[in-house]
Amino acid sequence: MTADHFPPATTNSTWPGAEPAGQGRLGLASDQEAAQGAANKLIQGENLTALRALLDNYRGRVSLIYIDPPFATNGEYRVGATRTGTVSSSPADTLAYADTLVGAEFLDFLRERLVLLRELLADNGSIYLHIDYKIGHYVKVLMDEVFGQRNFRNDITRIKCNPKNFPRKGYGNVKDLILFYSKSGNVIWNDPQVPLSEADKERLFRKVDADGRRYTTIPLHAPGETVNGSTGQAWRGLLPPRGRHWRSEPAVLEELDRQGLIEWSANRVPRKKIFADEKTTRRMQDIWEFKDPPYPVYPTQKNLELLQFIIATSSNAGDLVLDCFCGSGTTLLAAQSMNRRWIGIDDSEPAIAVARKRLVEMPGSLFSATGYEFLRVDV
Ligand SMILES: C[S@@+](CC[C@H](N)C(=O)[O-])C[C@H]1O[C@@H](n2cnc3c(N)ncnc32)[C@H](O)[C@@H]1O
Repeated sequence: MTADHFPPATTNSTWPGAEPAGQGRLGLASDQEAAQGAANKLIQGENLTALRALLDNYRGRVSLIYIDPPFATNGEYRVGATRTGTVSSSPADTLAYADTLVGAEFLDFLRERLVLLRELLADNGSIYLHIDYKIGHYVKVLMDEVFGQRNFRNDITRIKCNPKNFPRKGYGNVKDLILFYSKSGNVIWNDPQVPLSEADKERLFRKVDADGRRYTTIPLHAPGETVNGSTGQAWRGLLPPRGRHWRSEPAVLEELDRQGLIEWSANRVPRKKIFADEKTTRRMQDIWEFKDPPYPVYPTQKNLELLQFIIATSSNAGDLVLDCFCGSGTTLLAAQSMNRRWIGIDDSEPAIAVARKRLVEMPGSLFSATGYEFLRVDV
């Protein structure tokens, strides 16, 4: 880390686990500290400066990035000065942050930061970028450019609120989007399963057998031709369709049929039966419902469970999670609660104040206080 990477910075914290920053340096962990899982960091300041400084010790070390940047709304977000912790639209109240960069200027602002974030990401890491439906499609193109189209994994629709009256002619907006990219093809993935409700079972398993068991059927063949193996051969006189192969060896198919687990259609097409009572979960799909808190303590504060879900899926215990637009610290709280290390950055005084308050008030923190280092970066 060289001095011209960042300006003098100060720490003013004696939080448990805090490391004093050296005079005139940002106080980011040394190589050894970073490797050993040194303290979490809350950094107040312009994130471009902070990200550049982090590169020295954290290049390729961050497992998961979540960012929820301004959405180019050309608006201002305030918190009540007298009613601390309430979101306000009164010009008399304290400005939390201004979201006034729009169009190409906004995209340039984001691009500069995304390039640095890609450098910080580990080879098996992921980035989730939260954005709205108005600017999201332009940001998708930017993400493709920086992270590569081949590393695009999902455009997640997030249902953010209950239906409400929409003032203009048009459909009510209840969603925003989360763009999910990996750094490479080898990515941390803890397959998220969600409980299968009775309603799901009725919808997905429409048939009922003679014993009253709900079931559905799936093809017995899968894509790809087997040239020499037995899964490419005829079974019961039937060849798999062109370009496909049997999912199992003929002996296994025989056994399935003997157990009554294959359903034959009227024109002799076999399909495998899947029973509802043998399934308790299903894979998470790309429409998520995580509504934001009805009484946020910071404008645009996100749902804590949303962050916990992302962290559980795309990182492991002890991994480093980064949010460089951390606002009220939702990502940091989620990471802390799941035994991950974290770095949060925000340049707003009110954001930092709320994040610090939320961190200290975290459940369980009475006897085991949340340890982190607090740093300031001056522009
Ligand atoms: C949409 S809010 C994030 C809210 C957050 N996800 C939460 O749950 O509270 C965006 C945040 O980005 C911060 N921000 C905007 N531009 C920044 C910059 N250049 N450097 C650091 N923080 C910035 C703002 O202060 C604001 O708190």
